[in-house]
Amino acid sequence: SLNIENADSGQAIPSIMHGVILETNINRGDDGGLYAELIYNRAFQENGRSLDGWLIFGQASANINTDEPLSTALPAQMRFSINAQSNNISGFRNGGFAGINVAAQNYTASFFYRPLTNSYLPGNTLSIGFSDSTGQIIYAMQTVNVSKAPINQWYYFTFIITVVNAAPTSKNFFFIQFPSGSQGDFEFNLISCFPPTFKNRPNGARNDIAQVFSDLKPGCVRLPGGDDLEGLSIPERFIWNNTIGFLENRPGRRGRWIGYNTQGFGLLELLTFTEDIGATPILAVYAGYSVDGKAVPEDQLQPYIDEVINELDFLTASADSNKMGGLRKRLGRSQPFDIRYVEIGNEDFNGYGPQTYGYRWRDFYNALSQRFPNITFIATTTTSITTPPVVDDHNYQVPLFYIENFRRYENVPRPGPKVLVGEFAVINDDDSQMDNPWGSGRISFSSMKSAVAESVYRIGFERNSDIIIAGLYAPILQNVDITQWTPNLIVFNASSVLKTTSYLAQKIFAENLGNIILHSTATNSTMTHQSVQQGQEGDGKLGNLYFIATKNTDNNTLIVKLASVDSNDTIVKTQIHGSMASATGTAYILSAGPGVDPSKVANTMDNPNAVSIVTKSISSINGTWSITIPSWSVVVVTLPL
Ligand code: AHR
Repeated sequence: SLNIENADSGQAIPSIMHGVILETNINRGDDGGLYAELIYNRAFQENGRSLDGWLIFGQASANINTDEPLSTALPAQMRFSINAQSNNISGFRNGGFAGINVAAQNYTASFFYRPLTNSYLPGNTLSIGFSDSTGQIIYAMQTVNVSKAPINQWYYFTFIITVVNAAPTSKNFFFIQFPSGSQGDFEFNLISCFPPTFKNRPNGARNDIAQVFSDLKPGCVRLPGGDDLEGLSIPERFIWNNTIGFLENRPGRRGRWIGYNTQGFGLLELLTFTEDIGATPILAVYAGYSVDGKAVPEDQLQPYIDEVINELDFLTASADSNKMGGLRKRLGRSQPFDIRYVEIGNEDFNGYGPQTYGYRWRDFYNALSQRFPNITFIATTTTSITTPPVVDDHNYQVPLFYIENFRRYENVPRPGPKVLVGEFAVINDDDSQMDNPWGSGRISFSSMKSAVAESVYRIGFERNSDIIIAGLYAPILQNVDITQWTPNLIVFNASSVLKTTSYLAQKIFAENLGNIILHSTATNSTMTHQSVQQGQEGDGKLGNLYFIATKNTDNNTLIVKLASVDSNDTIVKTQIHGSMASATGTAYILSAGPGVDPSKVANTMDNPNAVSIVTKSISSINGTWSITIPSWSVVVVTLPL
């Protein structure tokens, strides 16, 4: 039985406890994912300037041209050439990031256009819309008069494409079409098309992915990486001021994981989105080390420190008294962002990182903590540095690791440093691979077994919330058609979004978060409530059952979280000491079902509802109730006290 004292243990749980890392670029999580832009290679930056993704049709050709570019940031454009007066319609089309979802709604399209001296466009009109891959079936088409564009000069056009009937699949193309009789050379850059976005933000997030992200109710979001913060090399790092302002002034950079990172979903978009979903940002800043193992020498570090000071000023300073704050205001955001946590670097325990993190952490931390005393700074390792306020701990492992490490953070020395578990996930369901989880058995989708093991670990986070500030599943986003890393929490293609098994487990933990821990013990028939010792059987764990009891003092609700790694169901009788109330509450249950191997049960793109959250009513009578905890399950009970 479970014995709960309705008495404040004095240990608070941070409201940011269950979070995620939103790493740009990985699995096309931003471009081709959360960022609602539909057009792939919109500014011809892929593969080092190319027309990758663009298909030419009709009697025409196209190449990359760099004469009189649109901007310094976007130095290459498409030159589209119709050589002879053609009787055919010609043009070009783009299939998006592995598809374009054409739904019955309005799309906002735009491009920069430059007709050259030799050009002739009958009626000065282009036709733009959506078609199938052959162009035979047109789903929507809009004519755009481009007569305002002066010869040889760039001119911006934006317009709405209205789709009345949705296309049956997402294997669709966006096209720009010239009428027959056109002739000469025409240039294009930044060809863009957006569906309606999350909260109608311009240049915003894809609605369906953003909604699922938001529904997870993450307490915090660590961004923008991960390895992609570091970049493939020092010049290819995340340079915040290259990610703000007009899109034609954002140069982008080579992505760490795949292709080009347009940085269209830049610093302001990332933080606005985080704010829109009510999460606290954990901002990761570049700390002079990149994925190629090269570090900025100490005597050259100052400009990189200044870059971060400017970034933090830009985000947090007054719009009226600070130059960077003023820039933020000019870009449409006068209110400072609430930045409470900043992580200096990423995974400096890797590669050659430890050799230089000593001076990099020291120099960044000294400068930043002096300038921003209200921000909590997080180190990526404790190796070779003096004790930081918080250190980030990463684990990618098999289920057994998380189960065996339930008490990992009980053994961390107090008073600190505090710990951010900045990345963790089961990546392999084969427990025998604990020494090399990256090897054979890597999973594509999280299973019920993974979700339960992660929940055991999360119960450990809450129990140790005097030292753990938050635990973050990683990575969160995956375009299933353009993938470099599995598993992930939210998986999508051009038209649908999957809530994975791990997503559902994290969701019931995150949306039911207490703010204080209650004393609780579990006893079996041979144990007494009084005999349970801290760190021993009965304290947070009894046999194959892991648990924590917490309370939300705002609404006086008891929240009991349980994770069972037992192959049988367990009946748990609960007694609340200090409350004789009779009340009705809710149990949220995620389980594989009876007699099933939990590693074989997973929500996948082909079987998206293999598991779902089941809710049951729970009634306590005089402070007691019973519940059956299914085999290999995650259960959260909420009950008014
Ligand atoms: O989450 C994926 C990657 O794992 C991150 O980029 C990196 O920080 C870690 O190695």
